[in-house]
Amino acid sequence: MNSIKMKNTIFIVTTFLLASPFTFAGKMTMPTDAPASYEAECASCHMAYPPALLSQQSWKNMMSSLSKHFGTDASVDPKTQTELTNWLVKNATTRQKYSETAPENRITKTSWFIRKHDEVRPEVWKRASIKSPANCGACHIDAANGVFSEKNIKIPAK
Ligand code: HEC
Ligand code: HEC
Repeated sequence: MNSIKMKNTIFIVTTFLLASPFTFAGKMTMPTDAPASYEAECASCHMAYPPALLSQQSWKNMMSSLSKHFGTDASVDPKTQTELTNWLVKNATTRQKYSETAPENRITKTSWFIRKHDEVRPEVWKRASIKSPANCGACHIDAANGVFSEKNIKIPAK
């Protein structure tokens, strides 16, 4: 390989790695050290979101305002709050390009989320079986296992 080709190859590989926060598939799945309180406290109203979907700052912000959580009260006792905050922050995304503090600390308001979903028409989000972009599992049939790949998507017709 000559040096120009080599540089191009490095460029392409690097671009690919930077372009996808999901290249390292393992990071998207639920870490095996998830405390039992995560499932118990954070998966009754929606799925237990894998911590790598949000930045450290977003998790800190969210965990310090649980009594005002998207129009509902999701508070937990102080011990659980500390346990969950530490674990979420430890497992938050560390990839700089994706570690913005999203509006409302929402996964669904991060720029990567918006970009990845730009082909979903606005009316699709409103279908009765979807209702909200935060309802990942309505389309990502294996979301509960942290799988968001293209092959595992089925958008409900209504
Ligand atoms: C009492 C119900 C309830 C509980 C308990 C709850 N949440 Fe939520 N959560 C909501 C609602 C409602 C929304 C907004 C959903 C929507 O916009 O469709 C939300 C949204 C979120 C979002 C943003 C989703 C997006 O739009 O990107 C995250 C992240 C989140 N919750 C994390 C947590 C964590 C962490 C816990 C546990 C400490 C928790 N939730 C417990 C009701 C709850
Ligand atoms: C209305 C259905 C729908 C909902 C709800 C939805 N998605 Fe998606 N998602 C899609 C579609 C369609 C794509 C684009 C797939 C493609 O690349 O062709 C996608 C792509 C993605 C990708 C990129 C996958 C890849 O291989 O590049 C990720 C990650 C993702 N979604 C995560 C989420 C998360 C997390 C949630 C919930 C907070 C969510 N999605 C909610 C339909 C949905």
